[in-house]
Amino acid sequence: MESYRELLDGNLKWLTQVKEADPTIFDRLSEGQSPKFLWIGCSDSRVPATEITGSIPGSIFVHRNIANLVVHTDTNLLSVLYFAVEYLNVKHILVVGHSSCGGIKAAMSDESFGFLDNWLNHIRDVRNAHKPELELITNEADRTDALAMINVRQQVINLSRVSFIRQKWQTGEFPVLHGWYYQLKDGMLRDLNISMNSVEQSEKFLAGL
Ligand code: CO
Repeated sequence: MESYRELLDGNLKWLTQVKEADPTIFDRLSEGQSPKFLWIGCSDSRVPATEITGSIPGSIFVHRNIANLVVHTDTNLLSVLYFAVEYLNVKHILVVGHSSCGGIKAAMSDESFGFLDNWLNHIRDVRNAHKPELELITNEADRTDALAMINVRQQVINLSRVSFIRQKWQTGEFPVLHGWYYQLKDGMLRDLNISMNSVEQSEKFLAGL
């Protein structure tokens, strides 16, 4: 059997189980979506948003890229973000980094990864800005994970500077931005306590307070 058939067979098994548990789910989902959450996570196959949060389809709007970056000129990310904020009115935006991230690991070194350097350099900028605190960590894996957490914080700050997020905050308390970290060793998601939903909070984080 071709290996891709596993996915189609898996889909049949999955839809049967889901329908058994909730017979009208697909009728409801085919009418539309109103997710409360936007997830900005890593493309890593081990960190699927819906599964690790025990959510059902329709719960989370998702954007994933290598190392969960928020780059201000990325029209793909900005379009997902704009749609989520202006049309879906999501209440919470979660930037989710994770341990043993390949993108972060690659960005720890200055070795060239060819085309990927154009993306990884965004992470290297974060690394360079935090060199002294990273150099204090002697274990390489721990240092990589520390950068993954610092990177989440930086990406939440980047998110808080997006024009239409700031406009939205002038009219209400949503969306609230959050930074989370997923530990592959135990499957646990941790809140990094860098939530913000105002320009004032954003400016405080920017100033490093
Ligand atoms: Co990753």
